[in-house]
Amino acid sequence: MTATPVLSVASEAFPLAKTGGLGDVAGALPPALSAEGFAVRTLMPAYPEALGMLRDAQPVLSRPSLFGGAARVLAGRVGDLDVLLLDAPHLFGRGGGLYVDTAGKEWPDNAQRFAALSQVAADLAQGAAPGFLPEVVHAHDWQAGLLPAYLRYRGGRRPATVFTAHNLSFQGQFPAALLPALGLPPEAMAIDGIEYFGGIGYLKAGLAIADHITTVSPRYAMEIRTPEFGMGLEGLLAHRAAVLSGILNGIDTGLWNPQADAALAARFSAETLARRAENKAALQVRLGLAQDPRALLFGVVSRLTWQKGTDLLLAALPEMLRVGGQLALVGSGEAELEAGVRAAQAANPGRVGAVVGFDENLAHLMQGGVDALLVPSRFEPCGLTQLCALRYGALPIVSRVGGLADTVSDANEMDLVPTAGNGFQFGPVTREALAIAIERAAAVWHEPERWRRLQRHAMAADVSWRKPARAYAALFRSLLAARGG
Ligand code: ADP
Ligand code: GLC
Repeated sequence: MTATPVLSVASEAFPLAKTGGLGDVAGALPPALSAEGFAVRTLMPAYPEALGMLRDAQPVLSRPSLFGGAARVLAGRVGDLDVLLLDAPHLFGRGGGLYVDTAGKEWPDNAQRFAALSQVAADLAQGAAPGFLPEVVHAHDWQAGLLPAYLRYRGGRRPATVFTAHNLSFQGQFPAALLPALGLPPEAMAIDGIEYFGGIGYLKAGLAIADHITTVSPRYAMEIRTPEFGMGLEGLLAHRAAVLSGILNGIDTGLWNPQADAALAARFSAETLARRAENKAALQVRLGLAQDPRALLFGVVSRLTWQKGTDLLLAALPEMLRVGGQLALVGSGEAELEAGVRAAQAANPGRVGAVVGFDENLAHLMQGGVDALLVPSRFEPCGLTQLCALRYGALPIVSRVGGLADTVSDANEMDLVPTAGNGFQFGPVTREALAIAIERAAAVWHEPERWRRLQRHAMAADVSWRKPARAYAALFRSLLAARGG
């Protein structure tokens, strides 16, 4: 049987480009789907660094004019990824971030940049590249939200469309005056189309028009139908509940493998957990922390934002120190929170160590060296760092929301199943509840046998893409079956 062709469309995909979990997922799910009988090609923008990674690229499509400049699509492979890069230098050939300039401000032409991505994705979906006729298109987040809209309003060939919402707080909202430039007809400005609070909503378009919507955890799929988590979209999502489901993310267990991770000072498995001590020591040196193997080392690998609860974390620092702990952090984000992190470090030399920035290798060393990973998010569609933590035997301390609640099971005294606990959950998402969780973790830390047992439970969890890929495959097949194909 030949594999079913799929087009996946995202604004980032690891290793070509990554600012967060979207990049991890868009880079790892397509290869995982090949075991399920799907041949996925991934369309993303040709940012300069991505272009540099694509060897022997072949042009498969060209457009003399796309939002003010010439564009083409280059095909190639990077690792296990079958990549299609949208090479449009006037839109993507620039320094700075993927979405923001060097000063951290949104690019003023983001509406055009990501409409271009969706427009070309629609061309590909309709057979514009020789030998590629996708039967399913999988669009990720607002940057690919207009793809289902282009397919609906253009007419012609229309593969099954799946839209995955990774985070409802990034909505891609733009003025209505943009409509003619987008190449969409006036009737697209409708309540069941792209219209959103009088403007144009890219995320909203994806949610309203795709045949099926997924989110990245079952709990988030439920949460977003309520005003507390729906970010204004709860009505639409409740209306579309019949075609909304949650599929947990996995992580690339080849890339995140404590037994083979080149970023670690010492590689280890559940049988050689004692070797983690070398990573902890290396981390303490790297971050200027006191060399103390007995101090409970709390870790954070995160964007520093309101979503991630960075403010709560800083407010709970006294509890971490009071229980004799240390804090190691790698993160970047909002200026005020970055300043808060720097201030905490300055005020607590040897006990708080931080790198403010994005550092992939350090993220790996953190997972292999910290004792507990803190993820006090106010909302969390899935979260990947707690999955990495489980795999590396760092016990996650997480708020009871979204994917965190779905993936970490609380180690409490009531555990009836002896293998159940693999971390600590807290709720509500407040400083006080977080402080209690920190104290609970510290109490277990003083029972080394019990801590070890929890580490083994954590490391035994299946955090791979195997099960999630199966769930996406089942979804794709059911959509194809429903159209009689
Ligand atoms: P989100 O996508 O909301 O930021 P996730 O937990 O899904 O959160 O994914 C975050 C990804 O980005 C993980 O792979 C994590 O290791 C990585 N990451 C986050 N911050 C940093 C950082 N400062 N340095 C290196 N990697 C980071
Ligand atoms: C988003 C979410 C995060 C999720 C990631 C990948 O960035 O904030 O929870 O893990 O997407 O799906």
